[in-house]
Formats: sequence, structure tokens, C-alpha cells
Amino acid sequence: MVELAINEDRELSSQEIKELQSEVRRLAEEKNAVILAHYYQRGEVQDVADFVGDSLDLSRKAANTDADIIVFCGVRFMCETAKILSPQKKVLHPNPESGCPMADMISAEQVRKLREKHPDAEFVAYINTTADVKAEIDICVTSANAPKIIKKLEAKKIVFLPDQALGQWVAKQVPDKEFVIWKGFCPPHFEFTAKEVLKLKERYPEAKVAVHPECHPKVIEIADFVGSTSQIINYATTCETDKVIVITEVGLKHTLMKKNPDKEYIFPESMNYCGTVYCCTMKGITLPKLYETLKNEINEVTLPEDIIKRARRPIERMLELS
Ligand code: 13P
Ligand code: SF4
Repeated sequence: MVELAINEDRELSSQEIKELQSEVRRLAEEKNAVILAHYYQRGEVQDVADFVGDSLDLSRKAANTDADIIVFCGVRFMCETAKILSPQKKVLHPNPESGCPMADMISAEQVRKLREKHPDAEFVAYINTTADVKAEIDICVTSANAPKIIKKLEAKKIVFLPDQALGQWVAKQVPDKEFVIWKGFCPPHFEFTAKEVLKLKERYPEAKVAVHPECHPKVIEIADFVGSTSQIINYATTCETDKVIVITEVGLKHTLMKKNPDKEYIFPESMNYCGTVYCCTMKGITLPKLYETLKNEINEVTLPEDIIKRARRPIERMLELS
């Protein structure tokens, strides 16, 4: 039996990681729990999950699972989405403090005020929003399906929130619609500059550049490929060059190396946070926290019933259209 304090900060030895992972797997079988993890999670957390994916794939999994318990290794809005889609299930979040700073950049009250200003618009929200905000909007999108879905909408005017980078990227691809874009942003992605990308390109002139649409528009401009985490995985592991510069959260390197270890994936070393594009809240989920959460069935995600009801429609609409 593994004995570890939940707030332990020290690095675990590989033996401890192995023991904890096998305990987590044993508990998951015993409790009929499914462990979902986003690509930005720590490698040892991704390796113990039943499924690792981008926001869209993870929403689909959460909607269709037979498990009694969903343990969601990601940030709060992802756990809320799982609860909204599977309200009868117990959804556990290994670190309730792990939110998404971008999701917190707009409130339900601000959306209601925007509605008064733009009554003729269709309100589209990135899935990186709180449940309260989802309850106010018409349809959700993820970075994997935003252009495709918005092209299908009838409205000529779109209010897009909260990510300005994703909003501008989509607006360029849908020139026949008018966009009103909220000024939210993802700190780790948005603060990474085009100058730093150009420096990497100079060092690795033969490499292709793949970036996430949460990056600054100037970074997007110089990229060879722009897409969600799973779209970047497809591109980077199959494109014709052996070296790929990847501008997204460094957790993705783990999957890239597993899928195609023959290529070199160059992640930036910059002034951003801990030296890379690094999401501190994604990394707030640790293996000991996952273990304690599942073992004791703590950190349950709860939402008011009316929010679940109202927030469900925009997510389901997205799943239908994507
Ligand atoms: P995707 O995995 O959907 O590309 O999302 C990235 C992200 O920022 C999740 O918070
Ligand atoms: Fe939020 Fe950015 Fe972290 Fe994703 S990477 S959870 S958008 S802060």
C-alpha cells in the first residue's frame, strides 16, 4: 500500500510513481471509475489515464462513458463540462484549485450585458468558460472545431468569447460574418512572442512550426500549421520534416514522443513562467493528488441544477455540429 502525503512537493522516485500508478489503476477498476486526462497533464498522470485527449475528445468521452465515476485530470471548466454532460455521475477533480485563468476573464453578468448591446448576434463561447457563462450562450466551440462550426451558423453577427486569439484566427477564416471579440487570453500561449519563434526558426531553419490558436496573432502569422492539441499531434508526427517547432503547452511533448519518437520536437525555452509555455494550473494535478482523490472519493464537482440544464444545450449543439 502506498503512503504519501497529498501536498507533497518533492519529486517522486520512479519506483514511487510505478507503485502509485498501479494503486490508481487498481482503485479505478474496483470503483468502476474512468480517468480522463488532457494532453497538458504531467507525463505520469497521462500514463495512468484511460483516455488522454483534447477538449473536444474529452467532452465526447465524458458524455458517453459507462463508468460510475469520472476523475478528470484537467482544469475546472473541463470537469464542469463533464458534470454537465453526465450529471448523474460522480465527477472528481484531483485539484479543485486548478482553474483556467482565461475562463475567469468573463463572467455571466458580462455576457448578459453584451447580449443587451448585441441582440442580433449569435453568442459563441470557447469551451474554456465557466458553467455560469455557458448557461448564457448559444453554442460552444473548441479549438478543434471553431471555424467549422461558426461557418455553419446562420447569424451574420458573432459575439465570440473569451479568447481574442482564437476569435481573431476564426474571424479571418469566416470573412462573411461580423465578429465582436472579447479581450480574454491564455497567459502561457498569448505571452509567447513572434520574436522568440523567429529565433527558434533561425536555429532550426529546416523545422516546420506548429502552433495552437491561443497563441498571439503575430505568432499564428508565421506558423506552418495552426490547430488544437490533437491536430498538432497529427501534423507534427506525420509531416515531412524530422524537426518540428511546437508552440503550445510543454505537456504535449509527452504524447508526441510516445507517438513518434523518431522526430525532434522543439518546445520553446523562453521567459514564460518556468522557462517554457507552461500552464501552472494544468500542472496543479499531481499523481499523489489523483490517488488521494480517487481513494477517498473527494473533490467532487457539483453545479446547481438550473446551470446544468442551461449549460448543456450549447455543449450538445457543439457535439451535434462537430
Ligand atoms: P485543446 O486541447 O482543445 O486544443 O485546448 C487547449 C487548452 O488550452 C485547454 O485548456
Ligand atoms: Fe487555460 Fe491556457 Fe492553461 Fe489552457 S493552457 S488551461 S487556456 S491557461
